[in-house]
Amino acid sequence: MRTQVAIVGAGPAGLLLGALLHRAGIDAVIVEQRSAPYVLGRIRAGVLERTTVDLLEEAGVAGRLRREGLPHDGTELAFDDRLHRIDFKALTGQRVTVYGQTEVTQDLMEARAAAGLTTVYEAQQVSVDGFDGRTPVVRFRKDGVEHTLECDFIAGCDGYHGVTRASVPPAAITTYEKVYPFGWLGVLADVPPAREELVYAHHERGFALCSQRSRTRSRYYLQCSLDDKAERWSDDMFWDELRRRLPAEVAQTVVTGPSIEKSIAPLRSFVAEPMRFGRLFLAGDAAHIVPPTGAKGLNLAASDVGYLARGLAEFYLDKSEAGIDAYSARCLRRVWQAERFSWWFTSLMHRFPETGAFGQKMQQAELAYLVGSPAAATALAENYVGLPMA
Ligand code: APR
Ligand code: PHB
Repeated sequence: MRTQVAIVGAGPAGLLLGALLHRAGIDAVIVEQRSAPYVLGRIRAGVLERTTVDLLEEAGVAGRLRREGLPHDGTELAFDDRLHRIDFKALTGQRVTVYGQTEVTQDLMEARAAAGLTTVYEAQQVSVDGFDGRTPVVRFRKDGVEHTLECDFIAGCDGYHGVTRASVPPAAITTYEKVYPFGWLGVLADVPPAREELVYAHHERGFALCSQRSRTRSRYYLQCSLDDKAERWSDDMFWDELRRRLPAEVAQTVVTGPSIEKSIAPLRSFVAEPMRFGRLFLAGDAAHIVPPTGAKGLNLAASDVGYLARGLAEFYLDKSEAGIDAYSARCLRRVWQAERFSWWFTSLMHRFPETGAFGQKMQQAELAYLVGSPAAATALAENYVGLPMA
């Protein structure tokens, strides 16, 4: 088997890259270790920046997003039993679109199947080799048969636990990491959202977030301890704790119902540098992780593959290596900005027991500053709606 670009991983990064390359007339094969239903079953965030929506438009997969995505012109911060609105539209002229990562993934999968493009699902023992020279290969087993996929380039879109980053010689890569001392307990339920917009709540019992997927499906999160177990939380316990952490006017409007999904995720900041090793490019979670506060993960995956598709199009169509040579630095500039914002927003909103009373006073002072100063509010808003793609 031979292709121009072998993509490892069929998450949003791999699928969007495949769609953008197809538009540019570049041939790609995706190799994914899980099944398509498994990939679609993972519940992730759902706030899209304008640049992500633009890339999905460019890839020709934004039809349903245009119809069903919910435009949000702002968000609400809750603390001291009060709500404060951050008006993105007024402060930046921009908005975000609420549309689940599951929906993005499904739209990309359907478009790929409709175009007759090859995705190998349930590939086993995936390995990458030869990317330091001119003949990279991706090897895998499928239905008991060994396959070798020869290619010009490999795109490592296989997430944080993938094989591509792990295949780079340790001396060639530098990683930066921060692990937070708590997790997020998330619940998905078919109930209407408590508020029109998302609510990020700072509370002495811990952070809470009211998010949503549609007018009839809500996503809620609670800061929890790292050794907590989702099974320990009955639905009633979850709803009670959520309401305790929200201002009364929001708590009253929370509609409860049976959870469809309940899970705990740890919070991590992680960056691997560089993002290119010869003919291997890392993109999305394979190269970096942000804590979910601010919903930057999917947006960064999208901008990475936006830069990569552009660079590869220049390589094949204009015979120029400038775009692929600039790939890593271009991505990392944007990645570190999103890392900073996600770390800052996480640090501001969560309860950090070890920082003590002084740390809490600093958070309170900063929250008051944020909602009292248009300059501070604009700094939040412009990062939340997304910094421009250079
Ligand atoms: N071989 C093939 N595929 C693999 C391998 C492997 N060895 N290891 C992992 N994969 C697949 C996973 O099964 C998954 O489908 O790679 C895919 C990676 O997808 P994601 O983890 O969704 O990562 P990415 O596409 O970069 O999307 C980033 O996902 O984690 C969220 O917050 C993050 O929203 C962001 C988005
Ligand atoms: C989500 O809807 O899952 C979500 C939204 C915003 C965040 C994080 C997660 O900051």
